[in-house]
This record gives sequence, C-alpha cells and structure tokens, in this order.
Amino acid sequence: MQYIKQIDILRKQIKEYKKQGKIIGLVPTMGALHEGHASLFDAARKECDIVVASVFVNPIQFGPNEDFDKYPRPIEDDKKVAETHGVDILFNPEVEEIIGDNLLAFVDINKLSDNLCGAKRPGHFRGVCTIVSKLFNIVTPDKGFFGKKDIQQLMIIKKFVADLNFDIEIIGCPIIRESDGLAKSSRNKYLSDSERQDAAVINIALKHTVEMYNKGEKNAAKLTDAFLSTMFNIASAKIDYVHIVDENMQNVQTATDGNILAAAVYIGNTRLIDNHILGEQICW
Ligand code: PAF
Repeated sequence: MQYIKQIDILRKQIKEYKKQGKIIGLVPTMGALHEGHASLFDAARKECDIVVASVFVNPIQFGPNEDFDKYPRPIEDDKKVAETHGVDILFNPEVEEIIGDNLLAFVDINKLSDNLCGAKRPGHFRGVCTIVSKLFNIVTPDKGFFGKKDIQQLMIIKKFVADLNFDIEIIGCPIIRESDGLAKSSRNKYLSDSERQDAAVINIALKHTVEMYNKGEKNAAKLTDAFLSTMFNIASAKIDYVHIVDENMQNVQTATDGNILAAAVYIGNTRLIDNHILGEQICW
C-alpha cells in the first residue's frame, strides 16, 4: 500500500493508472477506521482495479462547538486496517494541503440539507460537499463508496454528483452493526461503558418502530412517537431528531416503502445517528 500525503504525487500516480485503463475506486473517510469502513474498502476492492482511501478529518464540516479537536486520529492503526482490506493508496493530506488558508469556493446543496443533520448542524453539508468535490477532482475516481449510516450525506452526494455532472458512480453500502445492533461509528469510542449500553437502545427503538410500520402503522407521527417512547427511559439519551423523510429529506405524514426513518440521539455528550429505509429487510 502506498501512503501519500501530497496532491501532486497522488495525481501523478492516478494518471499512470488511468493510462493503463484501470478502474479507480475512492473511499473517503475521516479515519479512526472500523469494520464499517473496512466493508467499504471490501466493496471497492471487489468492483475496482485500484482502491484509493482518504483519511482526512475535514475541519470545514465541523461546527464551532463540535468535536473537531478531539476527533480520533489513530493513523498507524488506520494504515493497518486499510492495508488488510486491500487499499492500494492511502491518501492522508494535512489540512493546509487540502484547505489552504484562503478557501473561497464551496459546493452547497439546497433542500436536501434543510432537514435532519443539515438543520441541526448548519454548514455541515456545505463542508462535506466541498471536501468530497475536492477529493473527486484530485482522485478522479470511476466509483465512490459511502456508507448508508450517513444516509442524508449519501443522498446529498448522489444529488450533487448528478447536478454538477461528475462522471462518478456513487455506491451506497449497508450499515455495519455491533452484535447488539449499535451502528458502528468512530464516535462510539467516546462512550463510557454505561453509555455504550444505553446507546444500544437506539437500535432497539428503531427496530420496534420498523416492526410497527411492517405490521401496518403508516402514520409518521405515531411511528416517531413509538421511537421516542422506547428511548424515554434512557436517562443519558437526548433526542436530537427523529423523522420519517422522503428521498428529498422532507418529512412525510404518511410513511411508505422507500421512506427513511432517521434519528440522531445524544448519549451523554456523544451524538449518534442511525436510520432504516422502510420496506427493506431488518438485517440486525
Ligand atoms: O462520512 C465521512 O466520514 C465524511 O463526512 C466524509 C465523506 C469523509 C467527508 O469528510
């Protein structure tokens, strides 16, 4: 595996691979790699000749009071995970290399970023869209791989790629869960033992709500109330949001297959997100 920190070196290498007709896959990450990321590397490995993974904790997608400074950066561990899962190039630029000190151009998206995490984290998706566009322009991949845990991010990336004519296929990969159902996340590392136990209830609440939907309840307010009442007894939990949304991330009143039940919950100070696409099999 090549470990590259500079854009020009990466570009030279990519041009070489393109001359050879190789299909390039990109898995953008912020590091602190876990089995969720590993599953993206595996998917990219299956579909592409060359797998590029980026590890970059992107300052412009964090709000002023968020966890940018404390976000874990275990780069030596990350190198091992990436190498074990067949990554060919690990791109790990410094902030100055990617952002510089005078970034004035941004990529933003309307409507899809108004609700859910976009409403709770102003500017977050502008930061995500900008950095992902930069990575797309640097790596020029044929395919980009993103996890469905960040479902709003995935839908936004698909939409800006279509709207701005990036010639890249975006592939959404399944949520990977712990044995008790908690969605794998780099932020799970912040949880104390008791918070870790409480966090498992997010998935129980999600599952309970999906089961109600599967049994015939289609009223979105009743479904989200069911989620809230399951979480109610968890003292460390504070609901940031729970909504059922359509593909444009707009709340629906009547739920149908393909809509997304999406939640963000603080467990202590740690904000966790999870979701389920209604009509898809419960796989946990
Ligand atoms: O999902 C993430 O880890 C980040 O939002 C991403 C896509 C790497 C952009 O910084």
